[in-house]
Amino acid sequence: MTPPMDQPTPPGTPAGDPAPDETTGGERRISRKGLLKAAIAASAAPLLAGGGVALARDAASSGDGLPAPTPACDDGDDPTPPQMEGPYFKPDSPRRTSLVTAGTPGVPLTVSGYVFGRACRPVAGALLDFWQADTNGAYDMARYAFRGHQFTGPDGAFSLTTVVPGLYPGRTRHIHVKAQAPGGRVLTTQLYFPGEPRNNTDALFDPRLLMNVRSAGNGRQGSFDFVLDVAQSPDPTDPPTDPPTEPGTSWSSGTSYRAGDRVTYGGVAYRCLQAHLAMPGWEPPKVPALWERG
Ligand SMILES: [Fe+2]
Repeated sequence: MTPPMDQPTPPGTPAGDPAPDETTGGERRISRKGLLKAAIAASAAPLLAGGGVALARDAASSGDGLPAPTPACDDGDDPTPPQMEGPYFKPDSPRRTSLVTAGTPGVPLTVSGYVFGRACRPVAGALLDFWQADTNGAYDMARYAFRGHQFTGPDGAFSLTTVVPGLYPGRTRHIHVKAQAPGGRVLTTQLYFPGEPRNNTDALFDPRLLMNVRSAGNGRQGSFDFVLDVAQSPDPTDPPTDPPTEPGTSWSSGTSYRAGDRVTYGGVAYRCLQAHLAMPGWEPPKVPALWERG
């Protein structure tokens, strides 16, 4: 059975238009978070040596599996933007990090990353409640297939084992999630996949919610870091925030970039993580899945 669009259109609203509060702009600076990720990944390396989940962004950017160095560090990351819940959320999902069994049809997918607060420090014990369509694009409303919640570890990390969700009419490929720091407000949003043709036509799509995704064996590995709107005091041991000064050509919309290309934007140097055609609104500070500082 083909499910309907899961984003109902309010009366008088053009089809598929996101709610006004879901499209707020603002540049998202990730360098400090990237630095933390690199540090965490480095410290966790022995745990990953046995074929565990690597960080797609780090591997994609360095080519040798080592975390890319991130020389700069900024406070004030914009929080992960919200998106509408849609009609397929169900409360009381099972607590589990895997939504599949050995016989579950679909392309295996692991999504991993970290939950940070406004000061870019990891949030331990944050709730993440995922729900998605199965490989055929159908949601299970009778039971709890492809639904599950989990809590971040002491280092703010999470990992979800699932399959790539199928497409269904009216939407590009996506995963729904609710995220909540202990005692904090619930963030409801959606995660997207790079390179999906429908990303260009789905009015809800937001490049700030793109995962980094790479192929791994017969499946995919995705990564995404959440930034929740929770106050944190800066870590006094954080390094200084001197910006990089590497020269490069200026970023421009309409240009096709390849992984590894270097540009400057707003006087800051960026390196391309994934090949793409630059579009208005996809400026490097806004799309951490496509550009990193450095
Ligand atoms: Fe959906």
